Amino acid sequence: MSSSPEIRPFVHPAGSGVDFGATVTNVDVENITDAEFDVIRDALFTHQVLVFKNQGHATPKAQYELTQRFDPTAAGSYGHGKTIDAARSVLHPDLKTIPHQPQVQVIGHGVLRDGYEGLPPNVRLRHPHHRTFHADHVPDADDLACTRFYRWHIDAALYGRALAPPVATTLLAVRVPRGRVQTVRYDDGSGDAIPDAPLGTTAFVSGYALYDRLSAADQALARAARVEYAPHPYVWMSGARSRPTGLGLVSEGRELAPRDLPPVDPADVQILPMCWRNPVTGRLALQVHPSAVRRLHLHLGHGREAEVVDDLEAARALVYRLQRPGIAPEKVYLHDWEEGDLVLFHNRGLLHSVVGAFADDEVRLFRQCNIAGSAMPLGPETEAGAGDGGRVPVPVPAVG
Ligand SMILES: [Fe+2]
Repeated sequence: MSSSPEIRPFVHPAGSGVDFGATVTNVDVENITDAEFDVIRDALFTHQVLVFKNQGHATPKAQYELTQRFDPTAAGSYGHGKTIDAARSVLHPDLKTIPHQPQVQVIGHGVLRDGYEGLPPNVRLRHPHHRTFHADHVPDADDLACTRFYRWHIDAALYGRALAPPVATTLLAVRVPRGRVQTVRYDDGSGDAIPDAPLGTTAFVSGYALYDRLSAADQALARAARVEYAPHPYVWMSGARSRPTGLGLVSEGRELAPRDLPPVDPADVQILPMCWRNPVTGRLALQVHPSAVRRLHLHLGHGREAEVVDDLEAARALVYRLQRPGIAPEKVYLHDWEEGDLVLFHNRGLLHSVVGAFADDEVRLFRQCNIAGSAMPLGPETEAGAGDGGRVPVPVPAVG
């Protein structure tokens, strides 16, 4: 392949508030030169979502290598390490590991009669369904016509000193059932809904847009805040249930008690900045995995002690207040998958969610890859007084 990749920003329909995404052409993910990769890397941090069409031939190895290239000093383990092996993890049923490329997971729905990439014949995939996770449900009669966001998230283990949030995730659509659309319901009293969502779409929102639309006071709060994640968060949350918007959990005391978790090493607890800086554009993204939050550390001004929001319901309420405007229908990009699409997304600048409710005979087969990061995300720099009403924010360490 000659010349360099062509990057074409998405043209969003009138009324859309989405300002990210681009299509990449003139590149074969099986053969990416260093010069081509430089263009792709810059484009990823500029556009956050890159769509490469017609890449169905890409091997799991090529997918892994492209993903790994965004963090070349990372050890190269899957973003969740081995933590998804825990049978009680909420992630465990949704992922099947490719035996010869263990950083690449098979996800989807239905039975693969002929197996796939070393997975045995008749392996059954299960697309996550909001009924399994949400506190209340779409009525059965509406199940094929309506759906919800399953769980807004960042792909990240959020526990473990060697498991920093992955920089990038790749998703390859191998088999895509087409022809149906569904209405995505928010069911939070707002009246919000998205009609005509393609079946099994993946939803994205920009962490930069989340940050930009905050008030100046909330931006200052977010810049100086750190988020402490629960140890073994996906086991911890396994008994809990989601808000109808998929944006975090309701507080019913259903999280697992410490005695019911695997052993916890305090040095593995992750306390991350609430805002993560884009390494190319310098923009700040409000990046919080809402379901895994355990407590918040707020810095309210020079000379004052950090305030710890230890009450789980209060911590969730604050995060929800900051994040909910950012998932308004006009802010959501729903990718309309076609077989062969390889989507590369900036996991440190977006939230994303599975969407969709499949019938038993609808087979969907995707490959997903991300790599545990080599370093924790960049936080906001200390900016003495700048834009902060003259207050001096407490320096925010990048590693908790
Ligand atoms: Fe994900």
